Amino acid sequence: MKREIVKFGASVLRQECAPVSEVDSEVRSLVDDLFDSMRAAEGVGLAAPQIGIARRVCVIDVSAQQPDYPPIALINPRIISNEGTQVGEEGCLSFPDLYGDVKRAESVTVEALNLDGETFTTEGSGFYARALQHELDHLNGVLFVDHLSSLKRQLMRSALKRLKKEGEAWQKENS
Ligand code: NI
Repeated sequence: MKREIVKFGASVLRQECAPVSEVDSEVRSLVDDLFDSMRAAEGVGLAAPQIGIARRVCVIDVSAQQPDYPPIALINPRIISNEGTQVGEEGCLSFPDLYGDVKRAESVTVEALNLDGETFTTEGSGFYARALQHELDHLNGVLFVDHLSSLKRQLMRSALKRLKKEGEAWQKENS
């Protein structure tokens, strides 16, 4: 089911998300909702806090950019190694129409649980590695704007202010 995507300003986006203790039907339905909401918004990744749920679950689909990487769901993911650096433009569904250059590792290896509750690893470079780092950040309450230069943040100031109001209003209604 498609869910509303929470905007910057909602405190759920700043929470340290709780690990999943058991991959049950509730978690699988959360993953379905993440995929549905991400696709409806034409995004390449979405994390549970972005639909208001502070659990360590996210989905990524960069298959349009990098056909070698199929859509993936990650439960309790953690980066186990990284290498190199890359700088590239990033956006986020919680920050509509805002983009900025973010420095990330060029390649990462991530360990996570799959929908059967089994541990697996996924590794990638380029855009996929960027998406992995962006989505994992969300699970720790870190947002892409935190990585921008202060000049860039300054330029975004009025847009961020507007978004923040929207996010705060959502949080008020939903807590
Ligand atoms: Ni994001």
